[in-house]
Amino acid sequence: MLSPKLQDALNKQINEEYYSSYLYTAMVAYMEDLNLDGCAHWMKMQAEEEHQHALKIFDYVVERGSRVELLEIQAPPKDWDSPLAAFKAALAHEQHMTASINALADLAQEEKDHATNNLLQWYVTEQVEEEANVDDIVKKMEMIGGTGHGLFMIDRELKSRPAPTPLAGEAGA
Ligand code: FEO
Repeated sequence: MLSPKLQDALNKQINEEYYSSYLYTAMVAYMEDLNLDGCAHWMKMQAEEEHQHALKIFDYVVERGSRVELLEIQAPPKDWDSPLAAFKAALAHEQHMTASINALADLAQEEKDHATNNLLQWYVTEQVEEEANVDDIVKKMEMIGGTGHGLFMIDRELKSRPAPTPLAGEAGA
């Protein structure tokens, strides 16, 4: 079983991952409203991936014989100033998620819970990729000024993002 402290912290992280999924879904709606199909598609794939992140922790908590508790998910913003502003907000959010995962890994190490630390190392690596992916899009958008033909080209490129592969041990998989 997990220590009560770790159980609580992992439940909070499940909530953070669900909020991430919710936030990216709000960005899908925003991009759809601008007729940016590629950006909307990219955000939808990201929302799915965040759902998987939540379920991976969910399954782990269950596997450890502890209790999952689903907490209230806050409403995400509805609008951003521009597609570039939305991707910048996504990057800031991923930086927040990295900090949250790092704090959890610190706690697992303090509690000498090697199995939880091992799970969290997967997330540590994943966050490097998550930040790099969004940062790449932000930089490209900044390069083209975030509008016009350049935005059209980026939108087309983002349409090719593949669906996330199901993670091992995911609930229902
Ligand atoms: Fe699951 Fe993008 O953090």
